[in-house]
Amino acid sequence: MADTPTYWDYLRLPQLLDLQAGLGTDPEAIGHDELHFIIVHQAYELWFKLAISQLRLARDELARPTVDEETIPHVVHHLRRVIEIMRLCVDQFAVMETLTPQDFLDFRDKLMPSSGFQSFQMREFEILLGLEDMMRVTYGKVHPLEHIKMLAEGSPGGAMAWGTISQARTEVNLRSALHAWLYRTPIQGSSPGDQGDEAVVKAFLQEYLDKGRERREAQLARLIEVSADAAEGLNARFAAQETANEEWLMTEDPRLRRTRAAALFIESYRRLPLLAWPRLLLDTAVELEEQVVLFRTRHARMVERLIGRRVGTGGSSGVDYLDQTTKYRIFTELWAVRSMLSPRSALPKLRNPERYGFREV
Ligand code: HEM
Repeated sequence: MADTPTYWDYLRLPQLLDLQAGLGTDPEAIGHDELHFIIVHQAYELWFKLAISQLRLARDELARPTVDEETIPHVVHHLRRVIEIMRLCVDQFAVMETLTPQDFLDFRDKLMPSSGFQSFQMREFEILLGLEDMMRVTYGKVHPLEHIKMLAEGSPGGAMAWGTISQARTEVNLRSALHAWLYRTPIQGSSPGDQGDEAVVKAFLQEYLDKGRERREAQLARLIEVSADAAEGLNARFAAQETANEEWLMTEDPRLRRTRAAALFIESYRRLPLLAWPRLLLDTAVELEEQVVLFRTRHARMVERLIGRRVGTGGSSGVDYLDQTTKYRIFTELWAVRSMLSPRSALPKLRNPERYGFREV
């Protein structure tokens, strides 16, 4: 019967269920609450493993030098799975929260200095999404990843921890793949390499800004009409927004300018048949990041409920540190576009609309 597959052998249940003893070898030596703590964390790590593999699949497809329209649904499919995993991870904190603050204190001290901060899979996930080193909040005086590197030296799982992070840093991330793909989007019917493409892109952006400005001036006038005493502040706020929009869209870097223009173009003309999947891809990337931000926010609230504002087992300022990480944004271009998007009635006239119909097969 040795070759007969069984549920327990296929899933390696004897091995899996023998991994909850913490640092000791006797599962009986840990209490029920600690068992709960270990299992919840292990369940998260399993979900992270799956999310990372799906993310790599999506990244690989999107990072190809040319991406057919047929490929985008696959990319969206894999990313949607990551979104659902993250949604589940957000909800799973409710299970962790059934631990009371005092029950946690019974075994918390022995965990020091280990911490979820050292979840190398979470770091791998962030890096593969496109979180850059310089975007991270420092951890005490050191960079968070350097802190993990220091801990990895000499620890039994250290080679795997640091090896995983180092490997992820050598790979193309989803943000870069998305940018490279966006860059190639036809804008007003013009593609990179077409004659006069840069001028077409600039003209599109200028028209977009001009039409948007007219609308915003009308909005400003309406606001001042009802609250004249706030006029000074309103004028300054609208002017600052106008300058920010202009500087952002008309950036000196032609590659970035085209990439941003493409995000704006897809969001603006999202009803065009050829943009149906591209816009879903952008929606999916934003939703994914929204779930990651919700994960960070939900974790911080759970931590506040369990340990208040004390220092974390990993040595950070605890909730203050975690709240700062909720500011991270990876798909910055996609978020920024939302501040300057115009309604359909105020869009620049679409040029070469025939390029955006469905292809004949
Ligand atoms: C009793 C439950 C928990 C408490 C009190 C707690 C507390 C903390 C604290 C204070 C930090 C900041 C680093 C430090 O100083 O230690 C942290 C980081 C972290 N924790 Fe938790 N945590 C808990 C459960 C979890 C769970 C279930 C996960 C799921 C994987 C998790 C994932 C993380 C991650 C990924 C970080 C790094 C955040 C970052 O640097 O961006 N934690 N945790």
